[in-house]
Amino acid sequence: MLSKKIEKLLNEQVQLESESSLYYLAMASWAETKGLNGVSGFLYGQSDEERVHMLKLFHFINERGGHAVVGGSKSPRTQYKNVKEVFEEVLKHELGVTSEINKLVDACLKEKDYTTHNFLQWYVTEQMEEEKQALTILDKLALLGDDKSGLYLFDRDMAAMAPAPVNAPDAGK
Ligand code: FEO
Repeated sequence: MLSKKIEKLLNEQVQLESESSLYYLAMASWAETKGLNGVSGFLYGQSDEERVHMLKLFHFINERGGHAVVGGSKSPRTQYKNVKEVFEEVLKHELGVTSEINKLVDACLKEKDYTTHNFLQWYVTEQMEEEKQALTILDKLALLGDDKSGLYLFDRDMAAMAPAPVNAPDAGK
């Protein structure tokens, strides 16, 4: 059974994952309008993944006697200078999410909620992977510099990095 405090914190994380999904969606749209189909495919995939992160929390909260809720979100940014700026934002955003997950993990220890603490380990690992991925992409972009033909190859690489589509109706469970 979740304490009211942990339920509230988990619902704040629900909100953050939901905003992350919209944030990636807006970035994907920007990339698509620039003809960067590899980058946009990757970002659409990330958006789906963030929704799965949100749904995992939803199911957990409800199964532990709480009530999962999601609120409205402010509209995410729609314009970017270039791809590098997009991925700099991605890294900054994911570092912020990691910090929130860490606070949540810490709160679970203080409340002696070891079940939620255990559940959150999946998010700890996921954040580590997402940070690593954003750093790898930024490294690739740094190598590229202003090389336009390099950008074409980068876009093709990004298509290969896109997460598998999420189609299952019970995705995230
Ligand atoms: Fe679910 Fe990328 O944070």
